Amino acid sequence: MNVDLYERIWMWAVGVVLALFFTSTAVAAFGHQMHPPSHIETIDPAKALGDPRFKKQGVSVDASGRVHAQVVGLMFTWLPAEMTIPADTPVTFKLTSIDVIHGYQIVRTNGQTMVVPGYVSQFTTQFEAGEYLIACNEYCGVGHHLMAAKLHVVPQSQWQPPAREVADVR
Ligand code: CUA
Repeated sequence: MNVDLYERIWMWAVGVVLALFFTSTAVAAFGHQMHPPSHIETIDPAKALGDPRFKKQGVSVDASGRVHAQVVGLMFTWLPAEMTIPADTPVTFKLTSIDVIHGYQIVRTNGQTMVVPGYVSQFTTQFEAGEYLIACNEYCGVGHHLMAAKLHVVPQSQWQPPAREVADVR
């Protein structure tokens, strides 16, 4: 089959571009742990604050020792506004909103997800010790720029697990 020279050049160009796209996605996913957060669970936003999954916001440890963080977003704050977690330990964040869409961004980390009313967003990641700013990165109203929280990440030896031990509510 005779394929025109320009046709062949464009076919190769398309192949190279596709290979670049797939490679960059693979590098982000496997090299930098940039996984999309899940939106598997649903929730009634009007009742979210009374829901067993979010009745207590903040850090908890389940029966098998895994660390969880429950966070509720609302105009214009995060509940809780401050959390302390251990360094170099996988922490599973579960988030929901009781009003509009917010964006949970732990600045300069890969901890980030949209927080959508009606859904539970979840991601698991770990951090180096330090102080992190948590910002809202989804415009949610006149107080959007005030919607911030703090994450303290302390070395494992200095971390005090919360007194309450809650069952894995999942
Ligand atoms: Cu919440 Cu912007």
